[in-house]
Amino acid sequence: MRIGVAKEIKPDEYRVALTPAGARELVQRGHEVVIEEGAGVGSSFPDELYVRSGARIAPVDEVWETAELLLKVKEPIEPEYGRLREGLVLFTYLHIAADEPLTRALVDSGIRAIAYETVETDDRRLPLLAPMSEIAGRLAAQAGAHYLEKPYGGRGLLLGGVAGVAPGRVLIIGGGMVGYNAAVIALGLGAQVTILDRSIDRMRYLEEIMSGRVSLLMSSSLQIEESVREADLVIGAVLIPGALAPKLVTREMIGAMKDGAVFCDVAIDQGGCAETSRATTHSDPVYEVDGVTHYCVANMPGAVPITSTKALTNATLPYVEAIADHGLADALARDPALARGANVVDGKIVYEAVAEAHGLDFSPLEDVLPLSRV
Ligand SMILES: NC(=O)c1ccc[n+]([C@@H]2O[C@H](COP(=O)([O-])OP(=O)(O)OC[C@H]3O[C@@H](n4cnc5c(N)ncnc54)[C@H](O)[C@@H]3O)[C@@H](O)[C@H]2O)c1
Repeated sequence: MRIGVAKEIKPDEYRVALTPAGARELVQRGHEVVIEEGAGVGSSFPDELYVRSGARIAPVDEVWETAELLLKVKEPIEPEYGRLREGLVLFTYLHIAADEPLTRALVDSGIRAIAYETVETDDRRLPLLAPMSEIAGRLAAQAGAHYLEKPYGGRGLLLGGVAGVAPGRVLIIGGGMVGYNAAVIALGLGAQVTILDRSIDRMRYLEEIMSGRVSLLMSSSLQIEESVREADLVIGAVLIPGALAPKLVTREMIGAMKDGAVFCDVAIDQGGCAETSRATTHSDPVYEVDGVTHYCVANMPGAVPITSTKALTNATLPYVEAIADHGLADALARDPALARGANVVDGKIVYEAVAEAHGLDFSPLEDVLPLSRV
């Protein structure tokens, strides 16, 4: 199959959908890999590295026009809508439930659009979202430690303390993928860490793997109020799949925090879990409410494209190989997790939540793309 890799043109996006190592794997399986000029530069992968892996470098028009399978990181943005076309398989993050113009552009083009974020295993894991949550969680603890420093508007507190001086207190609301990874880094810095979650099973699991090094408490409105007041750094990491984040932290709770404390709302991409949260960018990441520094960057992994690109390719490559080796219909038939990634196929919306979100018609995938059984 001819696999194209497009350069991201969204502002502040430096990731690329395939590493040179991934390109070599695909070439060795007999596929042709065509990389857009300069696509990997933001992630420190110059064109020569792809050429050495057996890929070819081409201008933007050739990549989009000749690919059978096109790999991207972010959803197509308006200047790219004209490049969407019938028969092309597009594999990328889409998030189209919140983007009606793109949904309509995908439907009108007749493209086959498979979204990373809705690839979902039978046990409800989201394998292509998880690597970005790992990274965002780790960055959240680092950003929190940074903004607690006095010159950056913080209380002037070293999270780890030193011998004879107590460490800082980190509160993590939501102990999933983001929360666990934030805890790992906060513990590594020497902080005292508390995680609140609503799932007993998840807390049992965390208790087991973290061997009692964090306090695990049941999340309730009262517990959140008490814990937020005592914390130096609060990290919001809740998720209710498919829904906006619940507003668990009220304006009053923020007002009761210590002056110069930090609130890092990782759940901002789902609307944020505090009443005071609003999305920020890497170029202007923080703002202050009632003396509390708010860090609410909606695309945190974008800050570390070298790591994010490698982590993303590690997760996506097996699915890319499946589509390239078997063709889309066979690959979807073989793997129900990948089939759940299909959002728009041949002019029809095949992901129910997307159709519902825009009040458009839903068609079951099987009716649109006869899935050959293997
Ligand atoms: N800002 C970014 O750049 C960025 C990057 C990656 C992920 N995220 C976001 O981070 C959030 C967390 O993602 P994740 O992968 O860790 O999800 P996850 O599903 O692995 O974990 C979410 C956890 O929240 C818990 N939870 C749900 N309701 C709760 C409540 N009321 N109180 C306490 N805990 C509760 C769940 O039990 C679960 O353990 C999501 O909104 C995700 O979109 C943001």
